[in-house]
Amino acid sequence: MNSPSTRVSIIGAGKVGSTLAQRIAEKNLADVVLLDIVEGWPQGVALDLMQARGVERHDRQIVGTNDYIDTANSNIIVIAAGIPRKPGINREDLIKINAQIVTEAAKQAIAHSPQAILIVVTNPLDIMTYLAWEASGLPKHRVMGMGGILDSARFQTFIAMELGVSIAQVCATVIGSHGDLMVPLPRYSTVNGIPIAQLMDAGAIDRIVQRTRHGGAEIVGLMKNSSAYFAPASSACLMVESILLNQSRLLPCSVYLDGQYGVQDIFLGAPCRLGYQGIEQILELELSDAERAAFHDSGKLVLQSIQEAKTILKNAG
Ligand code: LAC
Repeated sequence: MNSPSTRVSIIGAGKVGSTLAQRIAEKNLADVVLLDIVEGWPQGVALDLMQARGVERHDRQIVGTNDYIDTANSNIIVIAAGIPRKPGINREDLIKINAQIVTEAAKQAIAHSPQAILIVVTNPLDIMTYLAWEASGLPKHRVMGMGGILDSARFQTFIAMELGVSIAQVCATVIGSHGDLMVPLPRYSTVNGIPIAQLMDAGAIDRIVQRTRHGGAEIVGLMKNSSAYFAPASSACLMVESILLNQSRLLPCSVYLDGQYGVQDIFLGAPCRLGYQGIEQILELELSDAERAAFHDSGKLVLQSIQEAKTILKNAG
């Protein structure tokens, strides 16, 4: 399965794309092609990562390019191109600029790798994943967005910090959109199997849920001119790993919902099994009325934004 010719192409060699390239190569998961429109930049990053092999001692090839021809026959395409969040710009404000970048990237990349699985990382995540799916023409089980793993990783981190326990024992799930209306699920969050409600009071859970919702914004606020990239790259790498190693991990990803959870024709975060074929199964969790309402609220906003994005793309010709 994991032959030396396994190839992941990353479109967009910014901080997320470059960090993801490093993780994939140094974890020995696949060869990496890093594509960017800026001439010389992806080539430079790739050469730097190749030179790191002298220390890291792996034999994965990392190639930088400005030409989609070099991405041909990739097993996975990750789209990380676009402008990042900045102070004063929320995810939804990014639609205008990133919609065109992402649809173009999806078309070009899939034209050269029609068998690939497509992972979208660009924000606003659920909307960009939908647009990439449409532009790519791929079946829905082969297109997915990275949001829920990152949000869950933040939720898990804050639980571990609050309780002073090892992160290795914390499991937590966040579903819904990758945005302010995401739906952290404390009822499905445990420390070594023990629900967190038995380990901390409602006030603490509330605080952690809020901090998780604003996890990305908190980092933008601190870094000023950048958004997060280490945790996003780690999260995307987990998806790559689960696919290439056919692990069938149960992970929250932005997936095409076709009636599940009572919503239709939308990409939204839900737990799914991720393996060599892509999305193997979407799990329908039992939700309380409040959780279901919160999920639907986040879906409504995403649906609205998808319509908005489609109009923008149409007007742009
Ligand atoms: C975040 C941005 C990158 O959540 O979506 O940090």
